[in-house]
Amino acid sequence: MVVTGLEERIRLRDSAEFELLNGSMTISAFLHRFSFKLADDGVATAMSRLGTTNGPSELAPTTSELENLATEFGNETSVLGLGKLLGRLTLSGLVGRTISFAGEAQFSIIPDALPAISDSLECTPSTVVSLSRFVFLRVDKTKILLETPRSGWIIEIHDPTLMTVIGQLASPATVKEHLERVVPQEGDNQEIERRLLSALGRAGMLTNHASPTEASEESLDPSLRVWSAHDLLFHQRSRVGRSRQPFGGTYRFVGTEVPPPRYRRPVDDQPKIELPSSTDCGEVAENYFGLLNQRRSQREFDDGRPVSLGDLAELLWRTTRVRDVRETEYGEIVDRPFPSGGAVHELDTYIAVRTVDGLAPGLYRYDPVDHLLVLVHPESREFWTWFHSVPPWPEPSTQPQAVLVIASRFDRVMWKYEGMAYAVMLKNTGVLMQSWSLAVEALGLGGCPLGAGDSEGFARVAGLDPYVESSVAEFAIGRPDNRQPL
Ligand SMILES: Cc1cc2nc3c(=O)[nH]c(=O)nc-3n(C[C@H](O)[C@H](O)[C@H](O)COP(=O)(O)O)c2cc1C
Repeated sequence: MVVTGLEERIRLRDSAEFELLNGSMTISAFLHRFSFKLADDGVATAMSRLGTTNGPSELAPTTSELENLATEFGNETSVLGLGKLLGRLTLSGLVGRTISFAGEAQFSIIPDALPAISDSLECTPSTVVSLSRFVFLRVDKTKILLETPRSGWIIEIHDPTLMTVIGQLASPATVKEHLERVVPQEGDNQEIERRLLSALGRAGMLTNHASPTEASEESLDPSLRVWSAHDLLFHQRSRVGRSRQPFGGTYRFVGTEVPPPRYRRPVDDQPKIELPSSTDCGEVAENYFGLLNQRRSQREFDDGRPVSLGDLAELLWRTTRVRDVRETEYGEIVDRPFPSGGAVHELDTYIAVRTVDGLAPGLYRYDPVDHLLVLVHPESREFWTWFHSVPPWPEPSTQPQAVLVIASRFDRVMWKYEGMAYAVMLKNTGVLMQSWSLAVEALGLGGCPLGAGDSEGFARVAGLDPYVESSVAEFAIGRPDNRQPL
C-alpha cells in the first residue's frame, strides 16, 4: 500500500566504519571487516551517500534516493547492482531499515548478526500471532530496543506510541485483529503498525498459533521448550555466533574516569589470624600439588611432535569417561571422574583435530560410555573456517594441534534445573576445564582453556540443532616444547 509521507530509509549499523577505495567498499564493525566490489560509478555514488549518514535515522537516505543516484551516475544495470549489494549488506548484518512517516522516524529494523539464522514469520492478515516469550525490551541511550536471542535482528522503536502495538501482542490474535485494536497515526491508514508487525515477524519476535485458543508453535517446539528466556539470552550473548554486539576483552573503560579495579585489597584494621606454613603432605598429595603448581596455559605447540591418538585416548579415559550410569525415578544419573551438578552430566566432548598422530583432521565426538571416537565431520572448508575461528591464536604456526570442544546437551540440565540451569552448566564446564588443565600437565602435554568460541559455527559443522546441543567452551591442546611428564 502506498501511503503518502511513509518512507523506507536505509542506514548503516551504528558502529560501522565505512571506506570507499578504488571501486570497492570496506565496512568495519567491531572485529569484522567486510569488503564489497562496487559494480559501477552509480552504485559507488549511492554507497557514498549511505556511508555519510551514520547518524540520526531521519537523515538516512531513502531507497528511492539511492536508486535515483545509481541511475543518474551509473548505467541501466546500476539499480539492479545496488539492490543486490543492499541485500548482501543486510545479510552481512551491516545495514538496517528505518520506517519514517512525515519525516519522523517510527521504527527501525537492524540486523545484529546473520539474519539467515532467524526463524522469521510471514505475517498475513489471518496469521495468528503473539509476542515470543524470548523478546526483551531495553533502553540504549534514548532508544527503546526490542531484542531476542532467537534471531540476529534488533527493532528500535522511535515513536513511543508504537509501544501500544507491542503491549497488546501478549495474547494471540490474528494480525488483522491486532491492527484493529491499535489507534493508528493520523493519515497512515495503519500502514506503520502493519509494517511493524511484519518487521517483528521477520525479526523472529512473533510466534505463530494454529488458532487464538491454541498454544504457540514456540511453546510446542521440542528444542526450545526447555530454555528459559534468560538462559538463552545469556548463552547467545556470551558466545560468538548470534550477535555482533561488542564482545570479549574490549577494555571499554580505558581512557574513561573508571580506573582499572585493583587486585590487592587495602589492608584494613579487622582482626587477622596468621596461617601455618605448608608442610609435606605425603607423596600422593605432593604429586598432585606439584601438578597444580606447575600448571600453566600453553599457547605454543611443537608441530614437529604432534600429540598422538594414544595421548588423546589417555586424556579422555582418565578425565572424561563414564564409570557408571544409574537409572533413578528422575532419569539416568552418571558417574565420571569429574563432578557435575546433580550427576546430570550434560557435557560431552568433541575433538577438533588439526594434527594428531594416528588421526585424520576433522571433528570427532568422544563416546564416554564405550570409550571410542565417532567421526562427525571429516576435514572440509567449512571445518577449517570454524576451526580457525575458535581461538584468537597469535601465530598460525603455533595453533593448537587439537581443540577439545565442550558441548552441552541443554535438555539434560534444563529438564532438572530451573532459574540456574545455564549457571550450573558453566560451573560444570569450569570443573572439566580444570580437570583437563591438570591432566595435560601430568601427561606432558600442554593445554589452554578458551571461552569465546563460535557456538553457531560449531553446531553447523557438527550438524546439530544449536538449541538442542552446542558448544559452551573449548580447550586447546598440543605438545609443548621442552616438557616432560612429572
Ligand atoms: C574460562 C577461561 C577462559 C579462557 N579463555 C581464554 C581465551 O579465550 N584465550 C586465551 O588465550 N586464554 C584463555 N584462557 C586462559 C587464561 O588467559 C589463562 O588461564 C590466564 O592468562 C592465566 O594463565 P595461566 O593459565 O598460565 O595461569 C581462559 C581461561 C579460562 C579459565
